[in-house]
Amino acid sequence: MYVCVCNAVTESHILEAARNGMTRLRQLRETLGVTAECGRCAKCAHQCLRDALGLSAIPDTTVLRTQSDTRFSLATEAT
Ligand code: FES
Repeated sequence: MYVCVCNAVTESHILEAARNGMTRLRQLRETLGVTAECGRCAKCAHQCLRDALGLSAIPDTTVLRTQSDTRFSLATEAT
């Protein structure tokens, strides 16, 4: 399944990246281009990375767009 359509990144690419030691969404952006264009893939890419690392589901998150940057970032909602 494609995770990042803009850069043709699949779950397999993210799994391979995790196997090669990547643990952060930022690293996926730097190496695969995930979130570097429209940013709509941020939440899914983050979850795929966590799954690949064997971590539990991410907490309830919201994808936010910063005013000075068109890229997206993840923020955890206060509960
Ligand atoms: S879908 Fe990943 S940057 Fe657009």
